[in-house]
This record gives sequence, structure tokens and C-alpha cells, in this order.
Amino acid sequence: MSQRSRCGDMSIRPSGCRVAGYALIGRMRRLGLVIGLTNLLVSFAFAQVTDRPPDTLEARLRACAACHGEQGQGTDNDYFPRLAGKPAGYLMNQLVAFRDARRRYPPMNYLLEYLPDSYLHQIADYLSALRPPPPPPTIADVSPAILARGQAIVAKGDPARGVPACSGCHGTGLTGMEPAIPGLVGLHASYISAQLGAFRYGTRTAAAPDCMQLVAGSLTESDVTAVAAWLSSRPVPADPSPVPRGSLAMPMACGSEPN
Ligand code: HEC
Ligand code: HEC
Repeated sequence: MSQRSRCGDMSIRPSGCRVAGYALIGRMRRLGLVIGLTNLLVSFAFAQVTDRPPDTLEARLRACAACHGEQGQGTDNDYFPRLAGKPAGYLMNQLVAFRDARRRYPPMNYLLEYLPDSYLHQIADYLSALRPPPPPPTIADVSPAILARGQAIVAKGDPARGVPACSGCHGTGLTGMEPAIPGLVGLHASYISAQLGAFRYGTRTAAAPDCMQLVAGSLTESDVTAVAAWLSSRPVPADPSPVPRGSLAMPMACGSEPN
């Protein structure tokens, strides 16, 4: 099954999938009613949780476990991302982006609405410090040639076409860099390709200069398939800690990663 159709089969459809798969759009319109209802039910369920404002961090984070795992380790769902161990600055940037609706996924937008920065900082620090056991790696369902192409782009980029090596910023171990570059291990292929689509089409943005918008814009659809397949087949290392700030010579500047 292709990454794109797996994205389309999810019961809770994230906005990122819309931009990742152009071919899905027609099918998505037909499914619109079902999606609307699903979103409504999810929102309702979480509205119940948030009716009484929880006054502890643990209580607030219980609402996250169904999608991100008890320890932020992720779940089997093709789209829900792992959170544990990502740099706190990166997690904070995402929480703020969801709260302020610069990054869109309705259940998360509702859950984080109106939360003050100080509270989001606590959540980011908490998730960043978690070290759950690594999940088993997934087996990519693409050909060895496509996997090799993905590995080459991640490690070396494609200089002739202006594609920088992903490892130049995400680290050779792909565990990210403090304070705000995330690791790329332990994520599902559908999630990775949807995020690259969202950066490319501007439905996910970061502080200017928005390096990921440029990087994603330099990739073809087949590059995205290859990179997502290879990255998702990488095992999560026993220590997924990001490398220290400033330890990588980034190939271009990123507004979200102060040097
Ligand atoms: C209904 C499922 C669901 C719930 C509940 C949920 N999330 Fe999410 N979360 C997602 C999805 C899906 C994404 C990716 C959305 C996108 O970009 O389209 C996401 C993304 C994130 C990200 C960004 C991850 C990254 O690597 O960029 C953070 C941080 C996050 N969630 C934290 C939380 C916290 C904290 C809670 C609880 C307060 C929570 N989530 C509850 C589904 C959920
Ligand atoms: C110049 C530095 C740089 C390069 C090169 C780079 N990235 Fe990124 N990447 C970032 C930054 C910074 C972020 C965080 C953006 C944000 O805050 O939303 C990011 C975020 C991401 C995310 C989102 C992760 C998540 O958990 O949601 C993905 C996926 C990603 N990059 C993939 C890639 C791929 C694939 C390549 C190579 C083709 C690449 N990146 C090259 C800096 C870079």
C-alpha cells in the first residue's frame, strides 16, 4: 500500500494529508461528511475533558496519551507523532503554533487554546525529558532502490538540485539539535511526508527564514516518498537526545534555531 493511501485511510484525518496527496483530494471531498463527524466527536470528547480546567500537568497530559502514548513514545497510528525526547524549544514552538492556529489539527488546537506560555513551557520541558523504551523500527514497503535514494538525500542531499543534506541540521544520528531542531527517528512515513507537504505549501510555517519551507520546496514528490520511507525504517537509538546547540554547521539559517 502506498504512503499516500495509508494517509487517506486514517480515521482521524489530519490537515497535513490534504497537501501531501494531491490525488487524495477528490476522495477526501466524498469522505468530507465522515471526516466532519469524526472531528466533531473527537472535539466533543475533548471538550468534556477540558470543561473542568485541570490544575496539574499530569491531568492535562492525560488527554494527550491516547494519540501520543503514555510516555510520548507515539502509537501505531500512521499519523500521530512521537514527542518524547524532542528538544524542548522545538516542542514549545509547536505548542505555541497549535495554540495560535499557525499549525492546524483541530483536536490539538482545541486542547491548547488559551493556555499561557508558562504552562506550555512546562509541557515542553516535561515531554522533552521523557525517555521511554524505543519502539521497534517499521519495515519500509518500498523497493531497495527507493530506500537507497532516501538514504542518499538524508546523508548527502542532492547538491545539483539545491537539496541540502537533512543530516546537516537534524544530525548524523538524526536525533535533532538543541534548542529547536527535532529528531527524525521514530516517526511514521505518512507523518513525515504530510509534514513536508505542509511546509512546502505553507500550511505549516516556522520563524523566518523558514528553512524547512525551502528544503521541502526543493524536494520532488518521489524524493519525499524515498526520504519518508528511509527515515521511518530507522531504529530509534537507545539515547535519542538531541546534539548540543551549535554543534552542527547548518547548510542554511533557520529562524527557529538561533545560533
Ligand atoms: C486526537 C489526537 C491527539 C491528541 C489528543 C493530542 N495530539 Fe498532539 N498531535 C496529534 C497530531 C495528529 C499531530 C500532528 C498534527 C499535524 O501537524 O497535522 C500532533 C502534534 C503534536 C506536537 C508536534 C509534534 C512534532 O513533532 O512536531 C506536539 C508537541 C503535540 N502534538 C503535543 C500534544 C499535547 C501536549 C497534547 C495534550 C495536551 C496532545 N498533543 C494531544 C494528535 C493529537
Ligand atoms: C537548514 C536546517 C535544516 C535542514 C537542512 C533540514 N531541516 Fe528539517 N527541520 C529544520 C527545523 C529548524 C525544523 C523545525 C521547524 C519548526 O519549528 O516547525 C525542521 C523540521 C522538520 C520536520 C518536522 C518534524 C516533526 O516532528 O514534525 C521534518 C519531517 C523535517 N524537518 C524533515 C527534513 C528532511 C527530510 C530534510 C532533508 C531533505 C530536512 N528536514 C533538512 C531544519 C532543517
